[in-house]
Amino acid sequence: MTQDELKKQVAQAALTEIADSLHDDVIIGVGTGSTVNFFIDALAQYKNRFRGVVASSEASADRLKKHGIELFDLNEVSSLEVYIDGADEASPTLDLIKGGGAALTREKIVAAASKKFICIADDSKTVEILGGFALPIEVIPMARSYVARQIVQLGGNPIYREAVLTDNGNVILDVHGLKITDPKALETTLNNIAGIVTNGLFALRGADLLLIATRQGVQRFEA
Ligand code: A5P
Repeated sequence: MTQDELKKQVAQAALTEIADSLHDDVIIGVGTGSTVNFFIDALAQYKNRFRGVVASSEASADRLKKHGIELFDLNEVSSLEVYIDGADEASPTLDLIKGGGAALTREKIVAAASKKFICIADDSKTVEILGGFALPIEVIPMARSYVARQIVQLGGNPIYREAVLTDNGNVILDVHGLKITDPKALETTLNNIAGIVTNGLFALRGADLLLIATRQGVQRFEA
């Protein structure tokens, strides 16, 4: 099985997971990335069974639009039934690193606004301790050097992601060299540094259900 086949398998598993809860009034949240793209393509066959989607990025919004799925602004929506998104790293404790695609701020907002967060990934993303994947941090451009110095004091090695501007007009620092043994504590610390808009740790609001595609089938990790 190729990695793409694994992504497709887990995307289908997420669709099966939510199929019974889809009805005319339901709006769902949809994240960003290659795994989610498979989910969007699979979701298209059900497009008449639910009301629409709030997307976490322009890229996903474009793909959803091409399938004729109705898009909503989060401000128009009072509740999101479920949020489906991928991850760059996931631990069995349902803590995640996200932001490889630079969409972390909108992803964190849509995840926060959703009743349930289902994270989908292939087994190359699972780790016991987060930090092997450099932690993305979205930063207000004028604060870039200040934030980088604060990160160095925390033991990280921040690298500026060249030529990338987020959907919100900010820059990304990718922090290497962190061994994240207490994701909630680090997420809180980073949240308190002036100039950081969002850090890519999803631990304070981690996944409720993690679906991992393996060659032996899809594994479930639940809160
Ligand atoms: C986007 O900013 C990320 O958080 C994605 O969810 C993550 O990079 C997963 O992408 P893939 O499914 O392409 O690995």
